[in-house]
Formats: sequence, structure tokens, C-alpha cells
Amino acid sequence: MDSKEKIAIGGSLVLMTIFFGAVVLATTSFGVKVPDCITDRKPFEESAIIRIGPNHYEVHSIARMWYFDPFMIEVPPGSEVDLYLTSADVVHGFQIENKNVNLMAIPGQVNYAKVKFEKEGEYRIVCHEYCGINHQTMAGVVKVQRIVESAAEEGSNQ
Ligand code: CUA
Repeated sequence: MDSKEKIAIGGSLVLMTIFFGAVVLATTSFGVKVPDCITDRKPFEESAIIRIGPNHYEVHSIARMWYFDPFMIEVPPGSEVDLYLTSADVVHGFQIENKNVNLMAIPGQVNYAKVKFEKEGEYRIVCHEYCGINHQTMAGVVKVQRIVESAAEEGSNQ
């Protein structure tokens, strides 16, 4: 090993010690929070489609190997959807066809998007992040169509 290599290696060791020391010092003495890897929160253990108002829905979507839960999201035209997305296993993608929604489904984290569906039709959801052997089959759908209200839901006159 020549002397320049020794200087380079020694220098980088010194720098790494300084950087690592700065992180330790920041967390112990200055109360700076360093990001953790994965939280132990379990935000959505079950998927859900909740009607929270007239033409306003909240969807809790869970990406799993290799499907989206719920597979089908049914809403009437003109609906606004608050979409919360997480993953039960590995990192997945979540893209809705013809909509400006492109999220990552990350285990232990919740991602959010607001999306409005004006026109009737089917909007496919695809996983756009390689997530294992059946990645290419991983899909879901948003079905936008008039929903016939059940008799139990009186008071709403749609
Ligand atoms: Cu999930 Cu690719």
C-alpha cells in the first residue's frame, strides 16, 4: 500500500468518525430525532371504504403480495376520495390509470392522496414497483358508477 492510499483511508476514517459522532451528539445532546427504519404502528390492519359525506369517501387500501385490498373500490361519479395507502409486506407501487395518483405503499407508513372521479368508468390500479414473483399480476380497479342506495340508508335522497 503506498502512502497516498494510507492517507486516503486514514482521512476517510477520520471523516466517518466525525460524521457518525455528530449524529450521536445531535441525538443525545441536542434532542434531534433521527428517522427510524420502520415504525411499530399498525395503521391499517383492515382495509375499508367509508362514506364520510355526500360523494365523499375515505379509502384505506393495503397493498399485499400480490393484490390490493380492497381489490375493487366502488364509488359514484363526482366522488371525492381520500385515499390512505400502506403495505402489509414489501414496498409496492400504486398508480391509478388516467388519474394523477402515483404513490408508494410502504410497510409501517401511510401515504395519502386526494382524488376526484367525475366520469363513470373503470380506472385500473397497477403496482409499478417490482415486488416479487407475481408483481406483474398485481392490480386493482376503481369502479365509478351510480350506486343504488339501500333502503336502510334513509335520509339521503340520491
Ligand atoms: Cu406490488 Cu409490484
